[in-house]
Amino acid sequence: MTFTSRIDLSDHVRKQACGLLQARLSDALDLEAQAKQAHWNVKGPHFLQLHQLFDGVHDAAEDFVDTMAERITTLGHIADGRVTTTAAATTLYLYPLEAAGGEAHLKALSASIAAFGKAVRAAIDQADTIGDADTADLFTQVSRETDKQLWLLEAHLQAH
Ligand SMILES: [Fe+2]
Repeated sequence: MTFTSRIDLSDHVRKQACGLLQARLSDALDLEAQAKQAHWNVKGPHFLQLHQLFDGVHDAAEDFVDTMAERITTLGHIADGRVTTTAAATTLYLYPLEAAGGEAHLKALSASIAAFGKAVRAAIDQADTIGDADTADLFTQVSRETDKQLWLLEAHLQAH
């Protein structure tokens, strides 16, 4: 379903851009939940620092979600943030329920962030190709912040 708009992008471009955005929206919603999973369940000597770090990942993912969902509605489509849609469409790894120690959570969450970042980076070029520079720019911003979040996690794993 496309709502009419005076925006100077064709229905075709808008539909394709929203397809890209919806795919990454489902991933970002999953990432948001995965970061909370880590935030709540991490144990060990670095508990408090990791507990706070994982909440920062959640906050970044929450921003991605809102930015992408509102670009979809800006383009006249429906943003689908339903949990059932997210569960069916996410391309991220299933978060391990039994992860307990800091390293296990760092590895699980960094694997998901890396997969998300790879898909978002691909979406930059895809959005550019279909002729929506603003959506490409949106993905570029998300990609840059995703890279930073990955660094924040991986820095804990790179000292050995
Ligand atoms: Fe909390």
